[in-house]
Amino acid sequence: MSTLFAFLHHLFAFTLVAALAVELVLIHQDLTVANARRLLRADAMLGISAGLLVVVGVPRIVWFEKGIDYYAASYPFLVKIGIFLGLAIMSLMPTVEFLSWRKALRAGQLPVVDEKRRRMIQATIHGELMGVVVILLCAAMAARGGWV
Ligand code: HEM
Repeated sequence: MSTLFAFLHHLFAFTLVAALAVELVLIHQDLTVANARRLLRADAMLGISAGLLVVVGVPRIVWFEKGIDYYAASYPFLVKIGIFLGLAIMSLMPTVEFLSWRKALRAGQLPVVDEKRRRMIQATIHGELMGVVVILLCAAMAARGGWV
């Protein structure tokens, strides 16, 4: 079970990073109806993979790895979870924006996106990817109990 959950954890983490990368590429391109629909799908994939990371991560904390006492006392792990929660909050703004496009897209129309809002979404996705890099460092440190 430990191996299965470790595999699923990595699978969902890679899916989350892929979804963020797809969003970043699409949001830098000209907005078309097809690209807007792709952005909505990539954002759904991002949300689902983040949710599944929690579903798989909690049993790993409690049963399949070093136990809850270890992780509760691990600063890298606590930082990792703090950043993960921060990213979840950050991702709300792009998600709300993408969801607001649904009515226009259902009518086959291009959603109207303010240029300032578009730049904010670009900056947010960049920030989320940087956050994931720090999460990876914290994950490696938490698994090994320190820096070296
Ligand atoms: C973007 C989100 C996340 C990424 C990229 C990520 C990445 C990773 C990676 C790469 C490892 C393997 C570390 C190693 O063995 O060197 C790991 C381990 C782990 N992660 Fe995550 N993780 C994420 C979110 C979460 C969440 C939300 C939880 C808990 C709810 C969690 C719980 C764990 C646990 C318990 C381990 C095992 C650590 C150990 O071996 O002692 N992760 N994570």
